[in-house]
Amino acid sequence: MANFLDIKNIESSDLKKIIQTALELKKSRSGLTKGAFDSDRALDGHIVALIFEKPSTRTRVSFDVGVRQMGGQTIVLSGNDMQLGHGETIADTARVLSRYVDLIMLRTYEEATLHEMAQFAQVPVINGLTNFSHPCQIMADIMTYEEHRGSIKGKKIVWSGDGNNVFNSFAQAAEKFDFNLTFTGPETLKPDSKVIERAQQNGTKISIEHNPILAIKDADLVVTDTWISMHDLQSARERRHNQLRPYQVNRELLSHAKSNALFMHCLPAHRDEEATSEVMDGKHSVIFDEAENRLHIQKAIMRWCLEK
Ligand code: CP
Repeated sequence: MANFLDIKNIESSDLKKIIQTALELKKSRSGLTKGAFDSDRALDGHIVALIFEKPSTRTRVSFDVGVRQMGGQTIVLSGNDMQLGHGETIADTARVLSRYVDLIMLRTYEEATLHEMAQFAQVPVINGLTNFSHPCQIMADIMTYEEHRGSIKGKKIVWSGDGNNVFNSFAQAAEKFDFNLTFTGPETLKPDSKVIERAQQNGTKISIEHNPILAIKDADLVVTDTWISMHDLQSARERRHNQLRPYQVNRELLSHAKSNALFMHCLPAHRDEEATSEVMDGKHSVIFDEAENRLHIQKAIMRWCLEK
């Protein structure tokens, strides 16, 4: 039994194996009518609990569909509807759920909640996003890059905007997949210094460059995300927008990247804020492949957790 909680604690060889499995699972479905089961029905007889304490479209649907394609069944739970949202401890919830289900996927606020769930659960736990990290998303992003351009090793990835939870998982992935990562954004919204220091101590080529044009020069992949994450205060909206406007990914900024650079956004997007529609729908963009690959990578992650 293995948990999928964050990228930094998983062996690089396992992460690469998961991506390979996801690519094979995707290929094996090409030509299948939508909704058909995978031929090996690896999760036959398995029940997966999907717990959401925050909103979701992609994570909710892709996990649910992925389990069904593999022959398993899901129970989708909202944190508020559970006793968890009304005072029951995470530890007790984890122990109880472990008597009913074979796997738990949790989207929650605090990283500590996820770790407590994993500590007390007797079934694998998968991180479906916390305020600090989003490892399933980054695995889908790397899969998408490699599907289009081959190995990500040694490539220059530029994150433009807010140094948020998705960036943190990118920083952990840079170490495991050996790519160069540059953050460009305002000083006030730069990533958690502990994330940068840890990556640098482990030899990761990670840097901060506040000038977006200098940062993006010769990038192989440009990534951005919404300027207001789910855990950010709406009252900070105007201030954040003013600070982040120079980092909008638009045609002019992207012209400084390599001519064959890819553009990614984990979605949901606020079109014409963090990236223009012209870029999102343009020739560099692979945002919908990226969204699709959440399905394939999470199937591979669930199989890895259950040793299937
Ligand atoms: N990218 C992502 O996690 O999307 P959802 O919030 O819709 O799940």
